[in-house]
Amino acid sequence: MTQFVRNAWYVAGWSRDFGAALRPLEITGEHMVLYRASDGRVIALEDRCPHRLLPLSKGKRIGDTVQCGYHGMTFGTDGRCVRVPGQENLPASAYVAAYPVEERHGIVWVWPGEPEKADRDAVFDMPELADPSWHVHQGDALHIRAHYLNVAENLVDPAHVSFVHPTTLGNAASENVPVHVSTSGAVITAWRWIRDAEPIGFFKAFGGFSGNVDRWHYYHLHLPSTAVIDFGSADAALALAEEDRGQGVRIFAIHFVTPVNADETVDHWMHVRNTALGDEAASAQMDAMFRVAFAEDKEILEAIHVSEARPQRRKPVRIAIDKGPNVYRKRIRDLVEAEATEDLGAPVAPSFIQHD
Ligand code: FES
Ligand SMILES: [Fe+2]
Repeated sequence: MTQFVRNAWYVAGWSRDFGAALRPLEITGEHMVLYRASDGRVIALEDRCPHRLLPLSKGKRIGDTVQCGYHGMTFGTDGRCVRVPGQENLPASAYVAAYPVEERHGIVWVWPGEPEKADRDAVFDMPELADPSWHVHQGDALHIRAHYLNVAENLVDPAHVSFVHPTTLGNAASENVPVHVSTSGAVITAWRWIRDAEPIGFFKAFGGFSGNVDRWHYYHLHLPSTAVIDFGSADAALALAEEDRGQGVRIFAIHFVTPVNADETVDHWMHVRNTALGDEAASAQMDAMFRVAFAEDKEILEAIHVSEARPQRRKPVRIAIDKGPNVYRKRIRDLVEAEATEDLGAPVAPSFIQHD
């Protein structure tokens, strides 16, 4: 069971990743070829010629069309065949799927599911991405050999940071602090505050704190797999209220988790902050710290992926801090099941065979 939610927007890459060249990508097991057309739009087509099934990404662009590299059948930006060499007529079955694409804030999203259900208002957005009082910085695309549900659940699991990220995002002060979980529509939030404790490495570097701080972590997981981690610190003497987090040093680490297939996931991550505005050296320094932390996650998740594939004699044990991941998996199961049931469509009229 691969458990992909197909009717959803997934990040295919940053805007800078797409140009004239044909770029093959796999998202939720769908093989696509992406390129930027002459009018600036990013086009995503099924990466399989309907003739002998050669990936179209092995062909070449002729203007805004794509010519198959085997016998030259040519497809337009809408996926329709516009040329079959050696004949005049274009068979009705000569087309490839065209996937809806949306580009916003330098991010390219693709909808691998049913095109007519693609709701452009449902593309993830947050006001800080277009607000000059915040500094927005795109990070990397991290490839992880793991199932996307394990990657995404790690992003609604604040309890792991004390153990996985001891030098950057966590420290021993948070080991025994309970995690709260709430849900609101398509967002699951797991959060906790660690009050009056030593700052973690990240805020020693960026907050300029010398004494104890109050630190918060709010992990917002937007279904199916976009995580916004609101974390920050403020001088403990301020005794900051929850809703006043903007008065502290506040950072949003955003992860766009894109399922590739059952064994691979890409995490496009970026960060948004209310400190060191316009300071590219600070961006690079944060990138470096995040790279350390996310490489730690990658190592754990890839090891789990290998371990999960081995025979298991008993079910994994569940503990209190699993609440966020449990709620998340249930919501994903519901979405996947809803899509599977919709696909069945109206009941088919029963047919009978009469035997004499
Ligand atoms: S395989 Fe594409 S034209 Fe023959
Ligand atoms: Fe982590």
